[in-house]
Amino acid sequence: MNAIQHPNEPRSNANREATAHLEPVALRTFTPTQAVIAASAGAIHFTPEGRRLYDYTSGVLVSNLGHNPTEWTRRYFAYMGWPTNGLPTGGPYFPAVPMTAYNAITPIEVNASKRLLDVLRAAPGGARMERVMWAASGSEAIQKALWAALARDRTRHVIVATRFGFHGKKGLANAITGSEADAERDPRVRFVSFPMAECGDVSLRDAPFDPAPYQKELDALLHQFGRKLTALVTEPYLGGGGSYHPPKAYLQLLQRFCRDNDLVFVLDEVQSNFGRTGSLFAYETYGLEPDVVVLGKGLGNGVPVAAAVGRADLFGAMGYGEASDTWSANPLCCAAVLATLDEFGARDVLGAMKESSSIVERGLVELKALPFVAAVRGERGGMVWGVETRDHAGRTAAEWASALVLAAYEGDGPQGDGVHLLGPLAKKVVRVSPPLTITPAEAAASVALLARAAQRLAG
Ligand SMILES: Cc1ncc(COP(=O)(O)O)c(C=O)c1O
Repeated sequence: MNAIQHPNEPRSNANREATAHLEPVALRTFTPTQAVIAASAGAIHFTPEGRRLYDYTSGVLVSNLGHNPTEWTRRYFAYMGWPTNGLPTGGPYFPAVPMTAYNAITPIEVNASKRLLDVLRAAPGGARMERVMWAASGSEAIQKALWAALARDRTRHVIVATRFGFHGKKGLANAITGSEADAERDPRVRFVSFPMAECGDVSLRDAPFDPAPYQKELDALLHQFGRKLTALVTEPYLGGGGSYHPPKAYLQLLQRFCRDNDLVFVLDEVQSNFGRTGSLFAYETYGLEPDVVVLGKGLGNGVPVAAAVGRADLFGAMGYGEASDTWSANPLCCAAVLATLDEFGARDVLGAMKESSSIVERGLVELKALPFVAAVRGERGGMVWGVETRDHAGRTAAEWASALVLAAYEGDGPQGDGVHLLGPLAKKVVRVSPPLTITPAEAAASVALLARAAQRLAG
């Protein structure tokens, strides 16, 4: 397969070409720009040619505090016991926090678990946050959450998931992703509808909502499986499924069904955690009190760390080693979690985000005037949106979405700024998710740049 190439980008093209010979394409989802990023600071990436790209991805909703934040990094070094004014010379090693301590306990891990629980409990709806089950990726944490739900009563094995969710590609996380139509279906999983048709605009959280059809689906499962039902898992909003942000009443209905029938209510906050919905956690935004919350992505601001957090009786149902692995509770990860918690504690990150959030939202909503834009959905007061395209003028929605990603990247031309976006979700939804720390000036400049690109495209 030939590597993607772009004019005027000799260094980027060399990297693209080299990657094609070093790594399989399966490592990435398809993005028509295939941006090469040499350096980053805050909400700005720099290509090897020195062009600036506004980061509208945060990796994939990971670097919520921006790239290479100075205070976060200082704190990270301090937690690891690494000097910030140069490493000691004169010896091959220096004493600091261990880089790994498999099966041992490190004080930094104790600190991270305690601090994380404190923050989760302090948020409204966090009353059930009692134990931290660390993991190295979001899908692993989902897997561990479901293992715990299954372990509490091994005669109960049916898991309910909301249709078209994305929870990862591995094991049980894959099994609860998508819908019945997906090939590798686990017979333990049953799906219920997510109210996608009722997610038609930016945050209709308090919109009137008819629970009847959704209640009917849940009741049918109860009738079929009774006490075999053990857990229900949902994302607060469909992320990878195309940015669908539901009325609160829907999620509250799911939670009530769990309470009434003794199912474990698992909320997958791998994507929404640490501010994307405008609160630190989406259970606060949506008025929920989950039994287990699954965290990831923004938890380490770029260091790979995840966790399933929740009721002690559930996690206590698993014995020694049932959820152990090489990386979980690794000190490098715990230092990142502590630095992230510190940053959210020390500064009003979410308050400071509001202005940028409304600037980006306003700019995106204006795109609806363009004939190829079908909808803009997202979190009011948060930092995540989806721009959905439609079939128009002989081009499919998927073609328009890809063209928009490319046009934003090309931006103001070879020496000018661009906007970095990912390949479309669900083929036709362009995700917008800058770091929460994007400044109002950057928000205004970047959304104007995106609008110029979209208008050029519309002709
Ligand atoms: C809601 C949600 N859950 C789980 C995952 C899987 O996380 P990971 O890719 O770290 O395994 C993702 C990743 O995009 C996600 O968005």
